[in-house]
Amino acid sequence: AHQWRGVIAEYAERLPENTRGTVVTLREGGTPLIPAEHLSELVGAQVHLKYEGLNPTGSFKDRGMTTAISAAAAAGARAVICASTGNTSASAAAYATKAGMTCGVLVPDGKIAMGKLSQAIAHGATLLQVDGNFDDCLTLARKLSEAYPVELVNSVNPARIEGQKTAAFEVVDALGDAPDIHCLPVGNAGNITAYWRGYRQYTSDAEQPGPATRRPRMWGFQAAGAAPIVLGHPVDEPETIATAIRIGNPASWEFAEAARDESGGLIDSVTDEEILAAHRLLSSREGVFVEPASAASVAGLLKASDAGQVPGGATIVCTVTGHGLKDPQWALKNADGSDVEPTRVPVDAVTAARALGLAE
Ligand code: F0G
Repeated sequence: AHQWRGVIAEYAERLPENTRGTVVTLREGGTPLIPAEHLSELVGAQVHLKYEGLNPTGSFKDRGMTTAISAAAAAGARAVICASTGNTSASAAAYATKAGMTCGVLVPDGKIAMGKLSQAIAHGATLLQVDGNFDDCLTLARKLSEAYPVELVNSVNPARIEGQKTAAFEVVDALGDAPDIHCLPVGNAGNITAYWRGYRQYTSDAEQPGPATRRPRMWGFQAAGAAPIVLGHPVDEPETIATAIRIGNPASWEFAEAARDESGGLIDSVTDEEILAAHRLLSSREGVFVEPASAASVAGLLKASDAGQVPGGATIVCTVTGHGLKDPQWALKNADGSDVEPTRVPVDAVTAARALGLAE
């Protein structure tokens, strides 16, 4: 019987030597590419969702963490550290535990979702809530890794990007070629960098030729209150309900601009309202539950469609980066912001049937 073996085993020949010797894996990757019928109809294109919430810790970070922790293990590291808006810390904590390493995580105080926080703690990480935002946490993590014997596993670690590029390989393997457009949320900008590298390396004219005959246009979307790349300058106090991408000075800023420019793509912003509307559409129409930041890719696609930028019939992939259970509170709000109230019934079939709309 065949089981997906994890991204290092599946794409070993396309990953660096130092990630392949001591493999630490939770069988990440191999996530579904789901046709999105309602969205396709709305934008007049063939839209697919790359559902990265189905990775072992519930986000795309696992693709880069298997490679980063494997490389750290090969180098004899005993301890790793990261700054995080939540998902990186959950993933680092799980893979470090699997590898028998200790893990320190630095998170912005009060600004990370409960699901993510509980994962880091469950997996035994030492959690420091820093009196600052994500950008401050990353500065601190870099300093610690320079001065102390601890490996930094943020996406500034080259092994992270290498692992994450495998998502682009999977899209090409599933579709038979690259899509016309690839949409994704942008926070610290590691993922857009990784996808673009993956698409470049997987074409027939690449150094190590791959099956794709073309490359997609990369469309990245930041939250409007945390949109430094769109604005062209760092944002000192980033704000958005999509806490995963609440980042004012992305580490991979220049690589994200290169992905945009080399692919003929764009990087735009979407408001929190647009993010929540897309979040609601994904849950209620497509059956795909994601965390708010993940919905930025779809919110951006809808915005571009409204602006007439989506070519009719195009093949489009939106990466939805993290599972809805990470940050479930947003599902319990109505479109007007009020709380969803449960309907209470006695133990009585007729009353229950009426409440369900099955009887008058
Ligand atoms: N979506 C989710 C769910 C994320 O957790 C992140 C980043 C992004 C999108 C943006 O990806 O940073 O590569 O541009 N989360 C990081 C973290 C910052 O610490 O978990 P990016």
